[in-house]
Amino acid sequence: MKVIRSIRSMADFSRNAHIKGKTIGFVPTMGALHEGHLSLIRQARKENDVVVVSVFVNPVQFGPKEDYKHYPRNLKRDTELSRKSGADIVFYPDAGDMYFFNHKTYIEVCGLSGYLCGKFRPGHFKGVATVVAKLFNIINPDTSYFGQKDAQQAIVIKKMVEDLNIPVRIKVMPTVREKDGLAMSSRNKYLDKKERADAAVLYQALRMARDLISHGVTDSLSIIRKMRQLISSKKSARIQYISIVNPVDLSGVNTIKERVLIALSVYIGKTRLIDNIVVSP
Ligand code: PAJ
Repeated sequence: MKVIRSIRSMADFSRNAHIKGKTIGFVPTMGALHEGHLSLIRQARKENDVVVVSVFVNPVQFGPKEDYKHYPRNLKRDTELSRKSGADIVFYPDAGDMYFFNHKTYIEVCGLSGYLCGKFRPGHFKGVATVVAKLFNIINPDTSYFGQKDAQQAIVIKKMVEDLNIPVRIKVMPTVREKDGLAMSSRNKYLDKKERADAAVLYQALRMARDLISHGVTDSLSIIRKMRQLISSKKSARIQYISIVNPVDLSGVNTIKERVLIALSVYIGKTRLIDNIVVSP
């Protein structure tokens, strides 16, 4: 396995692979890899001749008060885990190379970015769409793999690819969870022991919502109210949002008649965690 730092070398590698008729599977990440990321790499390994993993903490998707500086970074560990999971290349570009001092172009997927997390993280999805488009242009993958854990991100990327005719297939893979149901996340590292135990309430609330829907409850507000009650029983929890929306266009759903996305964002102590499930009535 090789670590490539230069954008030019990465593009050359991909061009050569395509000339040889090889397919490229691509997993974009910000590093601090865990089983969630590794499940994407393993899936890419199964389906492609060449597997590229990018490790890039993308400055433009972080707000001014967010954790860009403190985001966990450990290239050696990430490289080792990527290799063991089947990656051929770890692409690890420099922020100064990705964003020259005179960078002026950004991609905005209008409409979708204003819902859910987008409401509370202005500019976040613009930063995500921009970096993913840049990575697609550099790596030119046949298929790129994303996690359902970041449901809105996957929806935004799919729409960008469709609207801009980017020739890549997007695959969204299931959320990988800890034993108690907590969705794996690089930010779980920030939780202390008590907070880590409390954080399990997020998935408990999502499961409760699923049970209510399977018992015939269709009123979103009453489900959200019950979820709020359960989550608020943990002292460390502060709810940012709980929403029940259409899983394609993210518009709000009052009465559940079709498949819905139930998504939430909750601070546990100072750590912002997100999770979601898709439920059919
Ligand atoms: P990052 O948070 O590192 O996540 C990289 C990929 O791993 C994303 O597609 C994310 O949805 C997926 N992932 C994270 N936790 C997961 C879990 N528990 N189960 C399954 N998949 C999981 O998302 C980003 O980085 C960035 O925004 C990026 C797309 C790389 C652009 O900078």
